[in-house]
Amino acid sequence: MSRSLRRSLLGRNFLSLLDYSPEEFDYLMDLSIDYKKGRFSDKPLRGKTIALIFEKPSTRTRVSTSVAINELGGYPLELSTTALHISRGETLRDTALVLSRYVHAIAARVKKHETLLELAKWADVPVVNMLSDKYHPLQALADAMTMKERFGDRKLRVVFVGDGGANTSHSLMLASALQGYHHVVACPSAYSPDPLILERAKEIASRTGGHIEVTEDPKEAVNGANVIYTDTWVSMGVPDAEKRMQVFPPYQVNEALISLAEEDVIVMHCQPWFLGQEITERVAYGPHSVAFEQAENRLHTAKAIFKAILVP
Ligand code: CP
Ligand code: NVA
Repeated sequence: MSRSLRRSLLGRNFLSLLDYSPEEFDYLMDLSIDYKKGRFSDKPLRGKTIALIFEKPSTRTRVSTSVAINELGGYPLELSTTALHISRGETLRDTALVLSRYVHAIAARVKKHETLLELAKWADVPVVNMLSDKYHPLQALADAMTMKERFGDRKLRVVFVGDGGANTSHSLMLASALQGYHHVVACPSAYSPDPLILERAKEIASRTGGHIEVTEDPKEAVNGANVIYTDTWVSMGVPDAEKRMQVFPPYQVNEALISLAEEDVIVMHCQPWFLGQEITERVAYGPHSVAFEQAENRLHTAKAIFKAILVP
């Protein structure tokens, strides 16, 4: 693994995949795969403390991140926003400046992506996105790793079915662009990806040999798919749950839909899922589902990120 790539990642924020090159993304995936194979027994984070701030609930991210830091010899310091003075008006600026005097990195799950940008603006230590309304890059790294484990370096047709404007949809689209995949977002038109993020994904894909498209037709989209991905129709904090429940049912990932894809299609979901809504129980626990591999890979990718940004 190239020394210049290692140097380029040191001290970096991990806020969105927009900030990472295809080579850096590959490096992080390969490092994650090495961690999964148990290649390292050292404790590179020994003596380092990482603050973990949660404005929203989390099971996978909370536990995989804490365990990853602990297994690398570091200390995961979990902080809920209600326990911090942020809850009574202390600014993000002061929070970032103060935490930077104690900890070696700040990871946060936030309601608004701007919160991460403000923390990163003032922090003297790297800031890692553990999910915002716009992006979920740690998830997408684990998802890309899961695809690579299954399909190697094949160029894939990846189809995201559901809420095209979800954080997971945006980050997966960027991961596909970095990987040079053919990525299709099948979604109701009112729930399309953010146009600016779509534009950036298309720009990246034009350089990697990938292709990004958006359609309203899930059946046409999954024709020839190697990967079908879905996520909840109602992400945490979205205001229009009732409206969504009316428009999303044609986008359910069920056995009829996956029968239109390649025979060895994998079905992905970041979890938590709402069985019987965006995915049926039979598909979620069926032979095509790799959802629990994705969940496991969150542990290995979390190790890769913190090692890469914190250890020379
Ligand atoms: N996929 C994911 O981020 O799950 P949690 O919300 O449980 O962290
Ligand atoms: N899109 C979902 C992802 C949960 C991990 C949400 O934001 O609620």
